[in-house]
Amino acid sequence: MKKSVIAFLTIMVFVAGMLMFNMAMAQQTQPDKTNINSIQKTKPGVPFDHKKHTTDYKVKCDKCHHVYKDGKNVYKEGDPVQKCGACHTDKMEGKKLKLQNAYHKNCKDCHKEANKGPFQKCEDCHKQ
Ligand code: HEC
Ligand code: HEC
Ligand code: HEC
Ligand code: HEC
Repeated sequence: MKKSVIAFLTIMVFVAGMLMFNMAMAQQTQPDKTNINSIQKTKPGVPFDHKKHTTDYKVKCDKCHHVYKDGKNVYKEGDPVQKCGACHTDKMEGKKLKLQNAYHKNCKDCHKEANKGPFQKCEDCHKQ
């Protein structure tokens, strides 16, 4: 009887440990660098330095990541992140731009405004 209780407890502790481990592993980590793959393969993909943007250029997460609720962006650091292509498709839907334009507006507008980073020469981004 006692032995089986101990065995049961041991198993429970083990199971709890596994669950915590899995949760930690499932947490999304920001990529240092990522290749934004070509959407339709008509252009080379775009290498993107995620880490430089957040640490060196000090761009806030919600400048690029968003979840809209009643027209407001409620995304905050640590929230799960979906691929841009999970929402932006191959055509515009309401105010939701088609994927290619979503990238171009996000990336190029900021570079243009800051007058830093590529926005004129296509091959400064499309080079992968
Ligand atoms: C600031 C970076 C940036 C610049 C500059 C840029 N693009 Fe893009 N563009 C992207 C990203 C990111 C994507 C999405 C990944 C992809 O499809 O290559 C994209 C996608 C595209 C696509 C869709 C490709 C496909 O296969 O569906 C086309 C076409 C395109 N861009 C054309 C251009 C042209 C033409 C220029 C120059 C006038 C240009 N881009 C400049 C970042 C840029
Ligand atoms: C300058 C734009 C930009 C900024 C700033 C930015 N990200 Fe990203 N992030 C991206 C892009 C683009 C991707 C790739 C998305 C895709 O492939 O569709 C990405 C991918 C991610 C992913 C991986 C998603 C996946 O499933 O592959 C996570 C997690 C993430 N970002 C978290 C963050 C956090 C946290 C911050 C702030 C500390 C942040 N990002 C700041 C543009 C940005
Ligand atoms: C969860 C769904 C979702 C994801 C993921 C998403 N978007 Fe959006 N995006 C939207 C919606 C909805 C709108 C329209 C917002 C409005 O009503 O103004 C939008 C609007 C935009 C706009 C135009 C408004 C603005 O902020 O200038 C850009 C640019 C844009 N998205 C780029 C991106 C990029 C780049 C990514 C990936 C890093 C991304 N989006 C990921 C849903 C999403
Ligand atoms: C809110 C501002 C902002 C957004 C959004 C942004 N960038 Fe940038 N990016 C910068 C700044 C600032 C620099 C230039 C820093 C410098 O030259 O000192 C830069 C530089 C770059 C460079 C050249 C240097 C490097 O780090 O590789 C590339 C390529 C680039 N960005 C790609 C992208 C792509 C692709 C996107 C969209 C997914 C994007 N950026 C979105 C601010 C932004």
